Amino acid sequence: MSVTHFPAGAGSSAVGTPLTKVTMPALAEMKRQGTTIAALTAYDYPTSRLADEAGIDLILVGDSLAMVVLGYENTLSITMDEMLHHTRAVARAVRRAFLVADMPYGSYHASSRDAVRNAVRLIKEAGAQAVKIEGGSSRARLVQRLTDAEIPVVGHIGLTPQSVHSMGGYHVQGRSLEAFDRLLADARALEDAGAIAIVLEGIPRELAATITAQSGVPTIGIGAGPECDGQILVFHDLFNLTFSPTAKFSHQYADGAAFFAGALAQYRDDVATHRFPSDAESYHLPRRVMAELEAAQPRARKA
Ligand code: KIV
Repeated sequence: MSVTHFPAGAGSSAVGTPLTKVTMPALAEMKRQGTTIAALTAYDYPTSRLADEAGIDLILVGDSLAMVVLGYENTLSITMDEMLHHTRAVARAVRRAFLVADMPYGSYHASSRDAVRNAVRLIKEAGAQAVKIEGGSSRARLVQRLTDAEIPVVGHIGLTPQSVHSMGGYHVQGRSLEAFDRLLADARALEDAGAIAIVLEGIPRELAATITAQSGVPTIGIGAGPECDGQILVFHDLFNLTFSPTAKFSHQYADGAAFFAGALAQYRDDVATHRFPSDAESYHLPRRVMAELEAAQPRARKA
């Protein structure tokens, strides 16, 4: 395996981006300054390192991990242990980005005591800087409880995938006036409870713009239009690695599937036709040992 390491004293992340750790106050300042937050999900060491070095401001170990990496049907099955395992890998890679970990379904639903214990694990054992939970006003007390326990919380409203069964599938939310008002109230309740940022997923642009204008904390949109304070995408959507049609809101920046498929087919052919490995890709005995071997077994070596 070929492994390289961060150069000692590496001074920058993306070209021209100083390696200053993104913190909670830095995210708040970005909102104040009108600097858009570029966020992305990531789930493992190499892709997190690439995202971090590209200057992504916030990396989320989303529970979308369940579907895009682990092959589950939805996000409900993923466990705390799986989230911890992947968050640790991401934390080992990330130098600059603000690191958020999703609390998986069931890890904050039974009691606030459970929720605090699980959130602390993601921060203390895995290295997250904040946790994200889904839900609006009904989660406000829990957000307050976690915040009181020194756990920074990112909220998540609109299309909340952990509610797939109660929503009857993955549908855009907030399209009626009542739903518009409810989501506006949800965002306010989360902010009042101490949420440090709010993910707005799958809601009309006009609603996201209103929430963003009224909110004192950054909004981070996915399928919520361009007026949010930040944007987040799922890593595997960006690179066409989901084996399913992309949602309307998503943007494919490169065809990773075609890239990998081409390289894999080439590798398979090279092995089958003995083009790989070449002599240059092989190790050799030292000259002296070769000479000794030749002297000892001239015929065996020729064979
Ligand atoms: O799990 C996830 O990837 C998310 C994003 C869609 C925000 O929650």
